[in-house]
Amino acid sequence: MLSRSGHQSESASAALSRVPLDHRPLWAKAAIGANTFDFETATVLPTIYERTTAAALAHDAVNLGQGFPDREGPDWLLAAAAEAITDPQVGPPNQYAPGLGLPVLREAVAEDHRRRYDVTLDPAEQVMITTGATEGITAAILAFAEPGSEVLTFEPHYDSYGACTALAGAELKGVPLRAPDFRPDVDALEAAVTDRTSLILINTPHNPTGTVFSPEELRRVVDIARRHGLRIMCDEVYEHLVFDDAAHRHRTILSVPGAQEVAVAVGSAGKSFSLTGWKVGWITGSTELLNKVRGVKQFLSFSSGPAYQWAIAQGLRDDHGFFAANAAALAAGRDLLREGLREAGLRPNRAEAGYFVVADIAEVTELSGPQFCEVLTREVGVAAIPVAALTIQHRASTDDELQRLVRFAFCKEPRTIEEAMRRLRERLPAALG
Ligand SMILES: Cc1ncc(COP(=O)(O)O)c(C=O)c1O
Repeated sequence: MLSRSGHQSESASAALSRVPLDHRPLWAKAAIGANTFDFETATVLPTIYERTTAAALAHDAVNLGQGFPDREGPDWLLAAAAEAITDPQVGPPNQYAPGLGLPVLREAVAEDHRRRYDVTLDPAEQVMITTGATEGITAAILAFAEPGSEVLTFEPHYDSYGACTALAGAELKGVPLRAPDFRPDVDALEAAVTDRTSLILINTPHNPTGTVFSPEELRRVVDIARRHGLRIMCDEVYEHLVFDDAAHRHRTILSVPGAQEVAVAVGSAGKSFSLTGWKVGWITGSTELLNKVRGVKQFLSFSSGPAYQWAIAQGLRDDHGFFAANAAALAAGRDLLREGLREAGLRPNRAEAGYFVVADIAEVTELSGPQFCEVLTREVGVAAIPVAALTIQHRASTDDELQRLVRFAFCKEPRTIEEAMRRLRERLPAALG
């Protein structure tokens, strides 16, 4: 029953809100899992990233919310993709790519793993190209989260984990990462394992805290999975965005001895080359596990963009120094942002990798993170994302500490960050009254 505004009438939405979680339709389960379900109208909201961007536009705010870089990827890579569209070597370049991805890209991913991580993968069976990392994450969760089971992750977490776990008919449980260092508490992770647990989702380097898991932390997570018969999906999309002052270099989970029996890893060309719109990603792992993931993946998008895949293969073979230069530029953005946040009285974390700093707002306000972000966008002219939106909200378990955190993106031009920090300095005190 739809009202004139297009929303379900009150009675229909109230009825849907009363339906137990397990019996709701899949669209509603996915939305609840990703905190995009509006319980009042029983409709789906855009993601927190899209809502933040829309609010930034409406209030002419500097957008430090959504995590996309505001400089393009390298020119030579753009040129490679443009040429590939008319280059018969690619394939045919404008028809379906093979379901597992172009062989040239699978080989380049395998070579890259051998060179950087000393991990040997068979490109024919142990590398699968996906439509962005998002599709790899979805396929792995749907393949390995058993219906009725529990899935563990560290909170805050990337929002698609909640949606996909719900689609799999499983329940996501969070183990909080704690300020100020946000190191994973592996003992707490093990304590959260029950006889219903089927899967662990980890993300290293981590969005939004920038934590890079140490080899020992990874080894212990793998050990837990092996002892309890669990699978692991390790989201490594920020693998190339680790800063020189990080406590640990990134290593793929597949480099941990014994990991390949239980774990798959996900990568993203979009994040690695600042080309998020290309949506090229990959999933790597043993023949046996990837075959199971394929069962789902080939009925999601089947395949995508051969010209982009071709270009990314060239980039992985020789990045022309882009990864190091990009990490250095991001680290400079991080420093600028942290300094500005500190001047405004917020307490930013160290952020060793990725696109984001998380800042504790407790010293300047009693507002919650979501309330603070509203004031920040409307009255200060800076948009950011409340970390609470990246936690498991429907179970009302959001940790108090996580409620006070706000995520700011630094994958922006210095002048953008400087302008945001100027507004913060000049307008925040008055806005908070
Ligand atoms: C942790 C994490 N995983 C996955 C993704 C999605 O990657 P892709 O754009 O390659 O689908 C993102 C994007 O923000 C992310 O932050």
